[in-house]
Amino acid sequence: MEVVSTIEELKGLLDDYRAKGKKIGFVPTMGALHDGHASLVERSVKENDVTVVSVFVNPTQFNDKNDLKNYPRTLEADCALLERVGATVVFAPTVEEMYPAEDTRRFSFAPLDTVMEGACRPGHFNGVAQIVSKLFYAVEPHKAYFGEKDFQQLAIIREMVRQLAFDIEIVGCPIVREEDGLAMSSRNTLLSEDERERALTISSTLFASADFAQVNSLAATKAFVEDMINDTEGLELEYYQIVDGNTLQEIEEWSDSDYVVGCIALFCGNIRLIDNIKYKEVK
Ligand code: PAF
Repeated sequence: MEVVSTIEELKGLLDDYRAKGKKIGFVPTMGALHDGHASLVERSVKENDVTVVSVFVNPTQFNDKNDLKNYPRTLEADCALLERVGATVVFAPTVEEMYPAEDTRRFSFAPLDTVMEGACRPGHFNGVAQIVSKLFYAVEPHKAYFGEKDFQQLAIIREMVRQLAFDIEIVGCPIVREEDGLAMSSRNTLLSEDERERALTISSTLFASADFAQVNSLAATKAFVEDMINDTEGLELEYYQIVDGNTLQEIEEWSDSDYVVGCIALFCGNIRLIDNIKYKEVK
């Protein structure tokens, strides 16, 4: 496994692979890697000849300076994990390398980016699009892998690929959970023991809501989740929305869509967590 930090080195390596007709898979990350990331890398290793993983805490997607400052940075451990799961190249650039000058590009993915995370974290998806597009230009992968935990991000990346006409297949991968149900997240390491315990209410409520939804209306299911979270001390609900999985717009009845997803964001103490559950998916 090679670890490089400049776009020039990265392109040099990848041009050689491309000249030999190798298929390139790409997993963009912000590091602090866990088994959820490992599953993306493993899938890429299985489906491509070469797997590139970027490790870069992207400042332009943080609308909260403290969140950026506190974001865990663990490059050495990340490289050990990536070596174990078979990554070929790790790209770990500096901020100056990725942003030699201010990135003034402004994207619009409306209406996908005007709701949920887009509404609560102004500028977040613009920053995601800035960095992911720069990484796509640098890596030029055949396929890129994103987790479904960031459900809205995945939809926006697909839209960005369409708008910018990238010839890249976007592969969405299922949420990986801890044994007790908590969705894996780099932010979980920031939870105290107590908060970690409370955070379990998120997945247990979402799972329970899937049963509840079988015999109850959409409005009642939404209220069921909101009440469970609001009744748990230490959790502060930011939103729970039941949306069409393609448009990300809220729906009112189960029959309004064939693809129905419940998306939640909340604070557990000071740590912001997100999760989601699919109520209906017709493939
Ligand atoms: O999902 C993430 O970790 C980040 O948003 C991404 C896609 C690596 C861009 O910084």
